[in-house]
Amino acid sequence: MKGKQTIGVAFLGLGRMGETHLRNLGAISGVRVVVVADPQAERAERGRVMSGAESALTEPEKAIEHPGVDTVVIVTPTDTHARLIEAAANAGKAVFSEKPIALDLAETQRVVRLVQERNVPVQLGFMRRYDPGYAKAKAKIEAGELGKLETFRALSRDTYPPSLEFLLGSGGLFLDMSVHDFDLARFLVGEVEEVNAWGSVLIDERFAQAKDADTAVTLLRFKNGVLGVIETSRRSNWGYDIRTEVAGSVGKVVVEAPQKTPLLFAKDFGSSYDHYENFPDRFEAGYRLQLEAFFAALREGRTPTPGPQDALETLRLAVAATKSWRQNRPVKVSEVQT
Ligand SMILES: NC(=O)c1ccc[n+]([C@@H]2O[C@H](COP(=O)([O-])OP(=O)(O)OC[C@H]3O[C@@H](n4cnc5c(N)ncnc54)[C@H](O)[C@@H]3O)[C@@H](O)[C@H]2O)c1
Repeated sequence: MKGKQTIGVAFLGLGRMGETHLRNLGAISGVRVVVVADPQAERAERGRVMSGAESALTEPEKAIEHPGVDTVVIVTPTDTHARLIEAAANAGKAVFSEKPIALDLAETQRVVRLVQERNVPVQLGFMRRYDPGYAKAKAKIEAGELGKLETFRALSRDTYPPSLEFLLGSGGLFLDMSVHDFDLARFLVGEVEEVNAWGSVLIDERFAQAKDADTAVTLLRFKNGVLGVIETSRRSNWGYDIRTEVAGSVGKVVVEAPQKTPLLFAKDFGSSYDHYENFPDRFEAGYRLQLEAFFAALREGRTPTPGPQDALETLRLAVAATKSWRQNRPVKVSEVQT
């Protein structure tokens, strides 16, 4: 695909996230959506109209085989990702897929192996890495501007608790939510040796029904000696609340976005400003920039990142944290094998 003028895309899944990705694709030059597929025909057709694609299909496998398709973008429900990545890899197509590959380690490992065998470029949608704040933090860490790294601290609060139906298929708090912070931990600091997690139901009894937690704290011990802590919560009455700090011997980086609109309103001896509501507005740039980076990598013949091995290692951390919470003990990440 290196140097190709126009990259043809099969776009799979036009739900909530699909609309965002399809809109972002439309702004990338040299990318043409050829076919949109969704089992719900009206959604596939809406995607076709939005993107100007040739075809709208209800069978994703047929879209992968459609003439003119070089790359497959997968934004379907989580339990379909592994099968669709495998189908695309077997057809020799590059893949951008929403995270995760799968909620199961063995299934994820199987996809990682196949992708390696087929040698196709694959990027997963851990978009925080492409948020300008996190990207700059990474650049400063890599340039040695923090000195020797010492601590990692992350906090993620989702605005609204999800439905019971969603919870039952989500893989639980650590696999569904903390996973973004585990990815950042690996991205910014390095591999984790051991985790110790506590979970609690403080927000909503539905989490107990789902045998899940709605609030958690996870301690991390990294292989390079850095110590970390991640707080995770399923509810935030003041808006989407994502913060990260990495501190070293000479400096620290803090990524946080407490204000959405550059406006402070002052009246009656008080003042206020607005806040991001949820992930689509907070990570708008990250969603856009991750796709731009994916297609730039394809065009320049570079390996896109984060790839399947990153997804596997991050899932391993989430599984270790879940085990630690359930068994009430520290868990070495090496204990979690496929
Ligand atoms: N990275 C992030 O921040 C982030 C945020 C939200 C969602 N996600 C992920 O994105 C994925 C999609 O989430 P969503 O909220 O858009 O879900 P959704 O339920 O709103 O949409 C999924 C769409 O896929 C369609 N679909 C189902 N099976 C299909 C198949 N086999 N082939 C093609 N289309 C199929 C459905 O009809 C639906 O239109 C999930 O895996 C989710 O975990 C990631």
